[in-house]
Amino acid sequence: MKILRNTPEFKPFEVTVAEEVIDSYLHDLDGSGYYVLVAELDSAVAGFICYGPTPLCQGTWDVYWEVVDREQQGHGIGGALMEAAATEMGKAGARLAFIETSSTPAYDKARRFHTAHGYEVVAHLPDFYQPGDDKLILQKRFKGKQTGKQGD
Ligand SMILES: CC(C)(COP(=O)(O)OP(=O)(O)OC[C@H]1O[C@@H](n2cnc3c(N)ncnc32)[C@H](O)[C@@H]1OP(=O)(O)O)[C@@H](O)C(=O)NCCC(=O)NCCS
Repeated sequence: MKILRNTPEFKPFEVTVAEEVIDSYLHDLDGSGYYVLVAELDSAVAGFICYGPTPLCQGTWDVYWEVVDREQQGHGIGGALMEAAATEMGKAGARLAFIETSSTPAYDKARRFHTAHGYEVVAHLPDFYQPGDDKLILQKRFKGKQTGKQGD
């Protein structure tokens, strides 16, 4: 939570939602519909990624949150989390993974980061979050996966 609160890209209400999602996962590790992977550096939490199967879909997953401690960014931790989540989603039969993000300049770095990890913008919803703040939907296709089972 300290890392989330210390991340300027996230607004306070977004931090509240992230906390609810983490709590939901911790209270029901197998049934919440969320999975969380944590990166540790010298036994301290350096970041986490939260993802899960999209309800009512086959082989479709969402990446909900990813954050790395501001002091630790740019050293490959985010990339390692992203790749670890992709491996886990792939093992569970993922065909597609989606990330929703904002079009504002604050998220430019995150967008470049996602593109570097195989995601491309497939939809652009103007003024979605607020006037002038569009929603971008990024998609990653898992190679060779046309069908799959979810939630393993
Ligand atoms: C997006 C985010 C998770 C990336 O985490 P990170 O640990 O900085 O990611 P990485 O270090 O793997 O990669 C980031 C950059 O560092 C570079 N990098 C990777 N390994 C590196 C290394 N060993 N040394 C220096 N730079 C490195 C990457 O090439 C990448 O460059 P880019 O800016 O051109 O894409 C992090 O910036 C973050 O928490 N941002 C705020 C929250 C956010 O926007 N989350 C995403 C939306 S939910």
